[in-house]
Amino acid sequence: MPDLIEALSPEPAFQIQPDPPSPFLEALLDGLSRPQKAIPCRFLYDEAGSKLFDDICRLPEYYPTRTETALLRAHAPQMARRIGAGVRFIELGAGSGGKAEFVLDAMHAQGLPPSAYVCLDISPVPLAATAEAIEQRYPGLPVTAVCGDYLGELDLPASQARDLCFFPGSTIGNFERAEARDFLAHWRERLSAGAMMLIGVDLKKDIPTLERAYDDAQGVTAQFSLNVLARANRELGANFQTARFRHRARYREDPGHIEISLVSQDAQTVAVADSLFHFAPGEAVHIENSHKYSVNEFAALSASAGFDVDAVWTDPRRWFSLHLLRARD
Ligand code: AVJ
Repeated sequence: MPDLIEALSPEPAFQIQPDPPSPFLEALLDGLSRPQKAIPCRFLYDEAGSKLFDDICRLPEYYPTRTETALLRAHAPQMARRIGAGVRFIELGAGSGGKAEFVLDAMHAQGLPPSAYVCLDISPVPLAATAEAIEQRYPGLPVTAVCGDYLGELDLPASQARDLCFFPGSTIGNFERAEARDFLAHWRERLSAGAMMLIGVDLKKDIPTLERAYDDAQGVTAQFSLNVLARANRELGANFQTARFRHRARYREDPGHIEISLVSQDAQTVAVADSLFHFAPGEAVHIENSHKYSVNEFAALSASAGFDVDAVWTDPRRWFSLHLLRARD
């Protein structure tokens, strides 16, 4: 039997290609090697994580989704009038749960239809589903799906139309403030003359309300956070014991963000690929920030990125806002 190996080994007929490096593995090895351990929040959203995030959006404590939806339902006609007819509607991120439809319906109902719809997302599956749903709902509207990172380089189709960029969900809150400004400035460069952006922005409010929204009674948000460790076990063969980490959400006043971490409950060592990582009792792995703005703070940030505020809609409690921005010439 050993001869078989001998017989096969002298002249390999093909070379075994190493697996392409996994972005998740690279980020995890890098992030866990830092003095302040961290995992980038984009890795929270595998299939299980995306499902859990949908559950978060329905939690009684998680006000952003329902508040933003109510704002869209109430004010989409006014938004559509301020935006005007014939825009190329660019939605950043797929699977926003039909939020774009409020605005698109209002545009159509008022005789101000867009000239085209473009959806942009890094995940091909929700991207295709979103594009298909829009195509079916608005027959004749040219629909393009662009698979890519809305922070990086990407090929937007050429267009004569004015652009309206729709970025709901307070996803911008995941950026650090300087990154949020860079993101806006980047799109300011990329968009057509007279372009607008309609952005959902979560607002500052009392700390208990904020902290409860990120640490709900049912523990769904905790599951969502811990899923990133379970994902490392599933995809990378890591051996995290998720029960030995605890989800923690804290509001930090300066500059104003929820900080989410996974806190090691005891001294432990975890293997990821060929590396071992030690966790001290109480040591935190940072996984997400969710920045909160005042309306004025967000206007100042927008101004620094080359946008004027055209209009802002907020709910009576001023918990959430939609900002309509216009690119300065
Ligand atoms: C998807 C970034 C808008 O910050 O509210 C919710 C993510 N994390 N609960 C947010 C999140 C935990 C969410 N965003």
